[in-house]
Amino acid sequence: MTERILSDNADAVLSKTNILNWAEEYARTCGHAPLAYVHSYGCQQNVSDGEKIKGMLAKVGYEFTDNTEGAQFILLNTCAVRENAEDRVFGNIGNMKKLKEQNKELIIGVCGCMAQQQHVADKIKSAYRQVDLVFGTFAYNDLYSMLWEVISKRRRIFNLSENHVDINEDFTQLRDDKIRAFVPVMYGCNNFCTYCIVPYVRGRERSRKPEAVINEVRELVSAGYKEITLLGQNVNSYSYGFPALLREINAIEGNFRIRFMSSHPKDATKELIDAIIDCDKVCTHLHLPVQAGSDRILKLMNRRYTVEKYMEIIDYARSREPEFSFTTDLIVGFPGETYEEFCETKELIKKVKYDNIYSFVYSRRSGTKAAEMEDNISDKQKGLWLRELLLEQRELTSEWFKRFVGKTVTVLAEGEGRTSSDHLTGKTDENIIVEVKADKKYIGEFIQVRITKAMNWALEGELVK
Ligand code: SAM
Ligand code: SF4
Ligand code: F3S
Repeated sequence: MTERILSDNADAVLSKTNILNWAEEYARTCGHAPLAYVHSYGCQQNVSDGEKIKGMLAKVGYEFTDNTEGAQFILLNTCAVRENAEDRVFGNIGNMKKLKEQNKELIIGVCGCMAQQQHVADKIKSAYRQVDLVFGTFAYNDLYSMLWEVISKRRRIFNLSENHVDINEDFTQLRDDKIRAFVPVMYGCNNFCTYCIVPYVRGRERSRKPEAVINEVRELVSAGYKEITLLGQNVNSYSYGFPALLREINAIEGNFRIRFMSSHPKDATKELIDAIIDCDKVCTHLHLPVQAGSDRILKLMNRRYTVEKYMEIIDYARSREPEFSFTTDLIVGFPGETYEEFCETKELIKKVKYDNIYSFVYSRRSGTKAAEMEDNISDKQKGLWLRELLLEQRELTSEWFKRFVGKTVTVLAEGEGRTSSDHLTGKTDENIIVEVKADKKYIGEFIQVRITKAMNWALEGELVK
C-alpha cells in the first residue's frame, strides 16, 4: 500500500456512487451486504458523531455488526480526554493485526478526537501498519472520498485537516437507541481549561441554527423518542441563547422530556435555572461540572469562577426548588494540588449534595498548559484520594436519595432491570436509576413509580397502576 495525505475534498458525490456500486457488487458476490463495525468511545458528542458516520455508511450499502470478526470495515471513533482512553484504543488496534492478516481486504479506520492529534497519527502511521484510514473530527464530510480511495487504490489515508467548515445539516443519523436521542446544539469549545484537550481536537465553538435543532427534535418526537439530550461542551455559550432554545423546544407538542449537557458554571445564569424550572418537559436537573473545590486550583485550571460564584447558582436553584438535582465532574490530583485543597473538594460535595459525581484522576494531556505544570503527586496517591472522594460521595448519595422514599416519581423505562429479570430499569427526571418490578411492555414508556428503598447507586420502587 502506498501512503498519501488527502488535503482536500475529492469528488464526494462520485465516490459515494462508486462505493454504492462496489457494495452492490459485493452483496451479489458474497450473498450479504458489506458489514461495518463502528465503535464510539468517549462522550455523547462522540456517540452522536458515530451515529452520523453510521448514517453515511448505511446510505452507501453497508450494514452493521457488533462483532469485529466478519466486518469488512472497522472504524474506531476515539476519545482523547484521558490517557487510559487512548491506551484502550491502542490496545484494540494492536489486537486487530490478526484480523487483518486473516482478511487482507479488511479496512481498519481510526477517527475522532484521538485521531485529530498529529502525534497519534504519526504513531499509527509508523507502528500500526494494519490501520488504513485515520481522520480527525473535521473530516466527516470527506468520508466517502477517503473510503473510496482506500477501497479502490488500497492507499493509507491520514486526514487531519482543520477546516472549520459550515455545519452540515444534510445528514441522516443511524441512532443506536430508539427511546433516547442526542441532539448537538453546538460543536467545539473556546474555554481552554488548562488540563483539557477538547479545544485542541474539536476546534472553536460553532452553534447550530435554532430552526435546525427544533426541526430535528420535532422529527424525533414524532418518531416516538421520549428523551432528548441537547449536547454541547458548554451549552451556555450557544450563540442564539440557550434558555430561549429550551423554551422553544419545551413548546413542541408531545410526551417527551428534555435534558442537556454540559453547562459551564462561569456562564450558568439565573435565566437558565428559571427556564429549567418553568419548562415542564425540561428535567429539574443540572449537570454543573465544578472540577475542584479550591479557588487556587480553579484559577490554575482556568475555570474562571470561584467556589462562592458556583454556590450562588446552586443556592438560587434550591431557593426556587429545594430538591433541585445537581451532578458534577471532578478532577483529583491536578498538578500542585495539596491534600488540604483536595479536602476542599470533599467539603464542597458535602455542601452541594449532588445526586451523583463523575470523578477522574488528573491525566496529563500533551499540548495543554497543565502538561507544563510541575506535578509532584504520585499516581498512587491520586488514586487514594479518588477512592476517598468516592467513599464520601457514596455516603452522601444514600443519604440524599432518601428524600425520594415514599414519593411517586415519573420514570422512563429503558430496559430490563439490573437486579432481576422481572424488573425494569429506568431513570427519574433527576437522572437517577430506578429498579421496578414491571412488565417489559412498559419499556420505552413513562411510568409512575412509588419509591420504597434508596440504595447508594439507585432507587427501588413499585409500579403505581
Ligand atoms: N465541557 C465539559 C465541561 O466543561 O464541563 C466537560 C467535557 S470533558 C469531555 C468531561 C470531563 O472530563 C471534564 O468535566 C473533566 O472533569 C474531565 N477531564 C477533562 N480533561 C481531563 C484530564 N486531563 N484529566 C482528567 N479528567 C479530565
Ligand atoms: Fe474541556 Fe473546559 Fe472545554 Fe469543558 S469547557 S471541554 S473542560 S476546555
Ligand atoms: Fe468527547 Fe473525548 Fe472528544 S470526551 S469531545 S470524545 S476527547
